[in-house]
Amino acid sequence: MADWHIGVIGGSGLYEPGALEDAQEIAVNSAFGDPSGPVVTGKIGGVQFSFIARHGAGHRLSPSHVNYRANIDTLKRCGVTDLLAISAIGSLKEEFAPGDFVVVDQLLDRTVQRERSFFGDGIVAHVPLADPVCPRMSKMAASAADRAGAKVHEGGTYVAIEGPQFSTRAESHVFRDWGANVIGMTAMPEARLAREAELPYALVGMVTDYDCWREPDGDVDVADIVALMSTNAENARAMLAEFAAALPKTRKASPIDTVLDTAIVTPRDVWD
Ligand code: ADE
Repeated sequence: MADWHIGVIGGSGLYEPGALEDAQEIAVNSAFGDPSGPVVTGKIGGVQFSFIARHGAGHRLSPSHVNYRANIDTLKRCGVTDLLAISAIGSLKEEFAPGDFVVVDQLLDRTVQRERSFFGDGIVAHVPLADPVCPRMSKMAASAADRAGAKVHEGGTYVAIEGPQFSTRAESHVFRDWGANVIGMTAMPEARLAREAELPYALVGMVTDYDCWREPDGDVDVADIVALMSTNAENARAMLAEFAAALPKTRKASPIDTVLDTAIVTPRDVWD
């Protein structure tokens, strides 16, 4: 049993420095390059949280240029025990309307130009990823979002596209045929790397649009997304406060904490 330390990767509007107790900004060096920005760490309701703004200060990093490895490695080095990812998503399903929250439980990866593993250069590991999110974190996030007043959908398959362009209409229809329910540009390789770092990961998507499959809607309009994101940030902050308030006092171990024990193929004496 140990204390919780919740890492949050999301937009820069997710914490108001005044709302964090004992807030500190820490510059952390990662072996994998520069993270998106400094870690802001502090307490909410007595629970330690550490934040990284995924797209950097001023939203300078496109989804393809976020250093996902450095972000995850940095949070791990800060002592984070569990990760909550928060991001804007498009909806591929009528019932998931703009403004709703979707706690994603499956992922499809259509990204093509991102570093997706910490391993491969002298140490080979194959981690299980059949269930890429942590059910315990997902459940707590969904309940917290619900108590914060959001309309929450528990479960949904997220397709990660490379971007930065939105999908074509044909792609949008194909993703729906594949069983994807929501679409975004950042959850992969983030979820893969969280698993390799033995960090239980939950993904709360905030629906900003219906992508382009839905008649008679037109194209995705980024102005609509930005407008909804600022309302969503308020809901997300309320969700974090509820999340902190409901966390059990101590953290029981998760099977994800030790996933590498059986995943590294290269014998220890070769790399130690
Ligand atoms: N993020 C928010 N809406 C999106 C969409 N329609 N496609 C990809 N990423 C998104």
